[in-house]
Amino acid sequence: MTEKPSPARGIRTEAVHAGEFPDPVTRASAPNIVMSTTFVADAGASFSAEDFGDQTPYLYSRWKNPTVDQLEHKLAALEGAEGCVAFGSGMAAVTALLLHTLSAGDHLVISDVSYAATAEMTNELIPRLGIKVTKVDMSDPENVRAALRPNTRLVYAETPANPILRLTDIEAVSRIAHGHGAVVAVDATFASPIGLHPLALGADFVIHSLTKYICGHGDAIGGAVLGKKTDMAAIKKGIAIRTGGILSPFNAWLIQRGAATLPLRMKAHEEGALEVARFLEDHPKVTRVIYPGLSSHPQHELARRQMTNFSGMVTFQVPGGTKAAKVIADRLSIIHYAVSLGHHRSLVFYLDTQEMLRTSFKMTPAQEQSYRAFAGDGIFRLSVGLEDPDELCADLRYALAGL
Ligand SMILES: Cc1ncc(COP(=O)(O)O)c(C=O)c1O
Repeated sequence: MTEKPSPARGIRTEAVHAGEFPDPVTRASAPNIVMSTTFVADAGASFSAEDFGDQTPYLYSRWKNPTVDQLEHKLAALEGAEGCVAFGSGMAAVTALLLHTLSAGDHLVISDVSYAATAEMTNELIPRLGIKVTKVDMSDPENVRAALRPNTRLVYAETPANPILRLTDIEAVSRIAHGHGAVVAVDATFASPIGLHPLALGADFVIHSLTKYICGHGDAIGGAVLGKKTDMAAIKKGIAIRTGGILSPFNAWLIQRGAATLPLRMKAHEEGALEVARFLEDHPKVTRVIYPGLSSHPQHELARRQMTNFSGMVTFQVPGGTKAAKVIADRLSIIHYAVSLGHHRSLVFYLDTQEMLRTSFKMTPAQEQSYRAFAGDGIFRLSVGLEDPDELCADLRYALAGL
């Protein structure tokens, strides 16, 4: 009998099939959820994570679980990574990466703008562990070079950065960091594996909040770290199993189902975001729109070079601060005024600059000035969903008419 061919698979086929196979007993086509916390073991099976490896049979779901395994395989295929470790949230993934790469006495260089919880953790918890932190504006890779010290172990970028959609040139920053013996991690949540390929650009680790585009439907929280096999084995054994921030099989199953349509959804998110961004740019009450896919984005050239999808995140400014936010929130009927992003539903949230600078971003005066130049008094972070873009523009038109 001739063997079935195994041709190279593109991203759409990988998104649907990677990690999945028909159930060997029932031949069910869709994956089962394995909710069992424990698995019947052979007498003499090891009870310590110390002996955990690729070939270790299923024993206990904090160690490994068949449904979570399937998701990890799919994510690794989408990202072109050797391996993946899934976590119970994006923040659990960020924490695992920092604990894996840094020890007391080390130095971390991180974007001065990042998701609030990441910024706050590197303001407080990480320095408490005896790790020095320097925050730099990574839109200029030379700022990274200037911040490096002999003990710099990790350069951590978020691109596009939440919330101002500032970009980092991953190739340039990786070259600089590697020349210095440091490793590079990129939180690519805003771009998703469809919009950015940090490992191919030279980074050592990628982080995703799976809660966002990869799940895509706003009904499961999760996170993942991806990278080299040896690093993933160390993160699994040294951090995930021992600190316990693992992903539930039910959430893994939901996220896996969402991931199957990620390439198609990202196409639609990008298409919708471009239309909405252009509408906002032409609106007389809107003072600024930031979207990597617009030629007005200060790093549009980098976006074109580095991103393969501009994603669905748009930020915009109108005068009036929190009062304007209240008017807009009250007048919207399709778009939900809510945090989070990457869902099929459009979401918008106002981020007050003064508050962000007080609570999350501990910046030098020059960094503060540069943040204000991007964000003004505050910005609306809009996650453009999968609704009809014309209807989203109409919803925004009515909301903005109240100002
Ligand atoms: C860029 C980015 N990274 C990480 C996180 C944290 O993810 P989670 O909420 O899944 O913990 C978020 C959440 O908004 C985010 O926007």
